[in-house]
Amino acid sequence: MPQKLNNKVAVITGGSSGIGLAIAKRFAQEGAKVAITGRNQKTIDQAIAEIGSNGLGIQGDVSKPDDLTRIYQTVADHLGKIDTLIVNAGVYVLAPLASFTEEQFDQVSDINFKGAFFSVQRALPVLKDGASVVLISSTVNGKGIPNHSAYSATKAAVRSLARSFSADLLDRKIRVNTLTPGPVDTPVFASVTGNAEEANAMKEAMGNFTPIKRVAMPEELAAAALYLASDDSAFMLGAELLLDGGLRDL
Ligand SMILES: NC(=O)c1ccc[n+]([C@@H]2O[C@H](COP(=O)([O-])OP(=O)(O)OC[C@H]3O[C@@H](n4cnc5c(N)ncnc54)[C@H](OP(=O)(O)O)[C@@H]3O)[C@@H](O)[C@H]2O)c1
Repeated sequence: MPQKLNNKVAVITGGSSGIGLAIAKRFAQEGAKVAITGRNQKTIDQAIAEIGSNGLGIQGDVSKPDDLTRIYQTVADHLGKIDTLIVNAGVYVLAPLASFTEEQFDQVSDINFKGAFFSVQRALPVLKDGASVVLISSTVNGKGIPNHSAYSATKAAVRSLARSFSADLLDRKIRVNTLTPGPVDTPVFASVTGNAEEANAMKEAMGNFTPIKRVAMPEELAAAALYLASDDSAFMLGAELLLDGGLRDL
């Protein structure tokens, strides 16, 4: 089978877990040299063991632009200039409007919105002309759901950035698109609930709430990311690919 990303350099922020890890594994299978990032070195090391010899792990925090500059320089030094960048790192911070704290607001904004903005800006010196950039949003970017106001707003901002960045980068033929998942089976639910039992209950409830009656597997998002990263999607820019089991439109 021909590989779709043979010898391409791919960076996946937050590639040490969940959707990002599934994308990293798929891209490595498709021949890419893959760099992943995350804050926790131990999780990065475990992920690299799963990705195999095509993987490079770099610790850093996407909410700190100087970390991003260092990460991209390390990628350029070890793997070369970047063909595809997946801006995936994110946190799911939920609370009712009345009790949402300033600290929670700053955390979710700094990682999901500021982090996405600077993840692209700081990559520009080492992004190849013609590169494909994919921003991971969420189907809640277009819905009103209780407890989700700040998180959903950060994901609406991400959707907006794909349009503006594509316009900014037209002269370099860099395409920026949004990949928008509905609920996906990843460790993120445990980060909200704090224990596995409640995380499973939350996942089941979300599956039942979704018209297709299940949550997605991370590999399904990885297949869509591969389409956006490769030349198969060459005519697509500033756009959104929605994989949400019918949640938004049905
Ligand atoms: N799972 C879903 O149902 C779902 C639905 C829609 C959208 N999404 C979006 O998909 C993306 C991935 O979610 P997931 O479910 O795969 O989550 P996950 O399993 O919790 O993985 C999140 C990844 O982001 C990294 N990360 C978090 N904060 C970071 C920071 N400040 N700097 C660098 N890396 C950071 C994490 O590593 P460290 O913690 O070690 O930093 C981890 O690698 C997120 O943007 C999320 O909002 C998820």
